[in-house]
Amino acid sequence: MKFKLKFMVASALLAVGLAASAQTVIKFSHVVAADTPKGKAAVFFAQNAAELTKGKVKVEVYANSALYKDKEEMEALQIGAVQMLAPSLAKFGPLGVKEFEAFDFPFMFDSTDALHKVTLGPVGAGLLAKLEPRGIKGLGYWDNGFKSFSANTPLKAVADFKGKKFRIQSSKVLEEEIRSVGGIPQVMAFSEVYQALQTGVVDGTENPLSNFYTQKMHEVQKHLSITDHGYLGYAVIVNKKFWDGLPADVRGQLEDAMKQASFYANQIAQDENDQALAGVKKSGKTTVYVLTKEERTALKKAMVPVHTKMADRVGKETLQSFYKATGFDPAKL
Ligand code: LMR
Repeated sequence: MKFKLKFMVASALLAVGLAASAQTVIKFSHVVAADTPKGKAAVFFAQNAAELTKGKVKVEVYANSALYKDKEEMEALQIGAVQMLAPSLAKFGPLGVKEFEAFDFPFMFDSTDALHKVTLGPVGAGLLAKLEPRGIKGLGYWDNGFKSFSANTPLKAVADFKGKKFRIQSSKVLEEEIRSVGGIPQVMAFSEVYQALQTGVVDGTENPLSNFYTQKMHEVQKHLSITDHGYLGYAVIVNKKFWDGLPADVRGQLEDAMKQASFYANQIAQDENDQALAGVKKSGKTTVYVLTKEERTALKKAMVPVHTKMADRVGKETLQSFYKATGFDPAKL
């Protein structure tokens, strides 16, 4: 009897041990706050993944650059130190997949619908496929939103940007965007922006409002101009070797979990940005200004030459496929 009990306990412990060791852990690293579209969708995916795989997969989400900063996270994914990321689309140019920089072209998307024509259609799928030779598998696109500019002085006319230093992501297209209005581009990791604004290392920045607010940039920027001059969103990516090595049934369950998370991300993004704007206004620390139609057209006129200037970088074919999908016409203001 005593022996039988011991045997049962040992078997139970072994079963628990096996179950634990059979659990696959996916480290999902990102650089933004947990209460952003990306942060929330990552947690949503983690919950879905646990449910659909019945605990076989545990997704650990690390927000706010807790594991890696911008550039480092891409390297970490490629060597397998993390398994999943959702970098902004601008992060793929420095990786060598320059076609992604088409997303950075100013005023490329008139609306979220126009954006989805790319991200949810064949052009978007074709771009993700280009990541595979780099050991990266793209699972889908998550929205954030359109960017606005901030500084300590009002930004209404193009002349207001002249001589000011603006933090941007590492992107040759974004460098040209800032130069097109006479500003000075400064590439910097996202986690360093708040301090750079606070200490005056840079004068201003661009980002969707959810990033602006959750990084507390409104505490260190007196003026925010709603310009919607460009887009910032994400591709969810995994280490390809890791992904291909998963049992087919588990991979299928994770794909389902990702489909739901992508739908969720795209559903909440606009609302998160709206709430962030309300938060900025409520703080009373930053004056919010919405560009008039004429002011926005003047900004567009100044920035659109970036399309011609940078066309060769992303390739004429890619650019045309974007124009065809979105209906953007650089000749029309
Ligand atoms: C940035 O660096 O501004 C963005 O890529 C941050 C993010 O991931 O939204």
